[in-house]
Amino acid sequence: MQPDISIQQVSKIYSGGFRALNNINLDIQRGEIFALLGPNGAGKTTLISIICGIVNLSEGRVLAAGHDIIDDYRAARETIGLVPQELNTDAFETVWDTVSFSRGLFGKPPAPRHIEKVLKDLSLWDKRKSRILALSGGMKRRVMIAKALSHEPRILFLDEPTAGVDVELRRDMWEMVRKLRENGVTIILTTHYIEEAEEMADRIGVIRDGEIILVEEKTRLMAKLGKKELRLHLQVPLEKVPHALAAEPVVLSEDGYELIYTFDAQNEQAGVARLLRKMADEGIDFKDLQTRESSLEDIFVGLVHENKP
Ligand SMILES: Nc1ncnc2c1ncn2[C@@H]1O[C@H](COP(=O)(O)OP(=O)(O)OP(=O)(O)O)[C@@H](O)[C@H]1O
Ligand SMILES: [Mg+2]
Repeated sequence: MQPDISIQQVSKIYSGGFRALNNINLDIQRGEIFALLGPNGAGKTTLISIICGIVNLSEGRVLAAGHDIIDDYRAARETIGLVPQELNTDAFETVWDTVSFSRGLFGKPPAPRHIEKVLKDLSLWDKRKSRILALSGGMKRRVMIAKALSHEPRILFLDEPTAGVDVELRRDMWEMVRKLRENGVTIILTTHYIEEAEEMADRIGVIRDGEIILVEEKTRLMAKLGKKELRLHLQVPLEKVPHALAAEPVVLSEDGYELIYTFDAQNEQAGVARLLRKMADEGIDFKDLQTRESSLEDIFVGLVHENKP
């Protein structure tokens, strides 16, 4: 199947000479939710802006729904909805007008039914006659989403969609994004809330210093890189990890009351038994133990700091 978005050897060098993206290759399939994770300044917004035609690429090629974003700009742009990271709506317009106008920009005939549905889905119906300036930050962000959906795009970019949105509304938005996907919309989102990627994404891409360092199905990523942690709360604090345990991947907590053993979530049982046996031999008693699986957050933090100079 032809990917919905195909990014081929894309680089971006900003006018000052700064290389913000370096040889990005990425295909995104129809109907998937793809989460792009990366620290501040990694190049997420630059990449999205290139695909949406807001920033010019320096090298490479991008196809959106099969259309080259440069040679076939209009056709490509029509398939795309963008919720930008920076809010930029006309403060004096009403919600209804701004969303309807946005549809018109794409040359689509008016569709009040569609606009009504979008506003209702985003809990903005009651606010349709309000001016944008009278809305809260979270409401403004929802207006941005409504605008992006106004022309019924089949690809939707959400650049930090839930920054500044309260927890309840964030969940509503996740629900809405899932519904869009069920209707066949391809979704690419960037987020700093790793919980969001964990909750929503089918695949995850990690970008660091303008390079994609990893693309993986979420479930495989978590299975592959996931770690488990066993914490043993000791009866008596230790000053350092005893010699007999030196060969084990254990560290001692600062207060000396916890031994923390980290192991591979996929294949490791024997190590725990061995550790406990050695502890018994040394006469180290524990009064409690806890295990924990690493979250996507742990994995992500590990990845972006890995091999950094
Ligand atoms: N117009 C510009 N001119 C020069 N450099 C720019 C420009 N826009 C962005 N950059 C630089 O490109 C790099 C990538 O920026 P970008 O906005 O794509 O990062 P990001 O991953 O979206 O970060 P954030 O998580 O903070 O939104 C940064 O170092 C930034 O300073
Ligand atoms: Mg950004």
